[in-house]
Amino acid sequence: MSILVTGGAGYIGSHTCVELLNANYDVIIVDNFDNSNEDSVARIEKIAGKSVKYYNVNLLDFDSLNHVFMQNKIEAVIHFAGLKAVGESVAKPLYYYETNIGSTLNLCKVMEAHHVYKLVFSSSATVYGMPDSVPLNETAPLRALNPYGRTKIIIEDLLRDVAASNENWCISLLRYFNPIGAHKSGLIGENPSGMPNNLMPFITQVAAGVREELSVFGTDYPTDDGTCVRDYIHVVDLALGHLKSLEKLDSFTGTQAYNLGTGQGYSVLEVISAFEQASGITIPKKMVERRPGDAPVSYADPTKAKNELGWSAKRDLLEMCEDSWRWQLSL
Ligand code: UFG
Repeated sequence: MSILVTGGAGYIGSHTCVELLNANYDVIIVDNFDNSNEDSVARIEKIAGKSVKYYNVNLLDFDSLNHVFMQNKIEAVIHFAGLKAVGESVAKPLYYYETNIGSTLNLCKVMEAHHVYKLVFSSSATVYGMPDSVPLNETAPLRALNPYGRTKIIIEDLLRDVAASNENWCISLLRYFNPIGAHKSGLIGENPSGMPNNLMPFITQVAAGVREELSVFGTDYPTDDGTCVRDYIHVVDLALGHLKSLEKLDSFTGTQAYNLGTGQGYSVLEVISAFEQASGITIPKKMVERRPGDAPVSYADPTKAKNELGWSAKRDLLEMCEDSWRWQLSL
């Protein structure tokens, strides 16, 4: 029996595949390598010292996905595949709705046809939009601020409906906070094509001299130093959260949502300073206007994941920065 990982060559997917292999699961990757490459599969194999079966398949292609299920005995699915750039989702909403929702629909249809009912879904803390209060627990209202976030909410709703229709389903909705860091080997990590959207890849590119300076978006937020606060989580901790979640799928039917975060918020300036400490490099920066749609403060209450999954994040901000930097240096 194997675990099928959609988007397994991507940033969070690749780290999760390594941890699955380390825990002796057989892994099958389905990826169309839209925002990743086949080399990442070879690197996963190198780190784990095991081989991985992979298929270059777009989840919108129902027949090809169906073939993957016909050819393999699949026990459960971890579904990472999807588009995730907020700005692009505003410019191309139809593309986002079609890709993210259409691929999840196909996946559920194929799973149901093959009687595979265990699913771990890659959701996001973006489903909380502008939080009324922090820390955020899983009962906070869901409201997205952009098409990308709305696709995550719609998929969560869709999965709740699917689960309600047949009691065999058990579906975990994992709401990630801000994943950063990389595998210690320096072989896998986040490698955005073009201009990075997120803070850490931007910082590492400035440190490496790829970009001139970092823009700090907004210094007049109601926080201690005026910059936004986020819950940064090491991608390996996040990957381990998927394993725990997979192991617990037998303990419930229906859906369960879990926040995967550390519970600790850091400001943009604190992240920069931790990175400077980890790398020994000073990051040139300029203070600019707020970026539209940014919540001033967002961090998790990770109690539910701790109590029900037996999972909590272990790696601190300095380690996240060291590992992000090691990865950038390898590029
Ligand atoms: N920031 C900068 N300069 C940059 C990039 C970011 O100051 O060049 C700031 C942002 O304004 C924000 C903070 O750094 O205050 C973090 O920004 P990111 O873009 O790294 O992360 P977000 O919290 O905006 O969003 C991320 C993912 C979403 C996900 C969300 C979940 O991009 O997909 O976390 O909380 F949904």
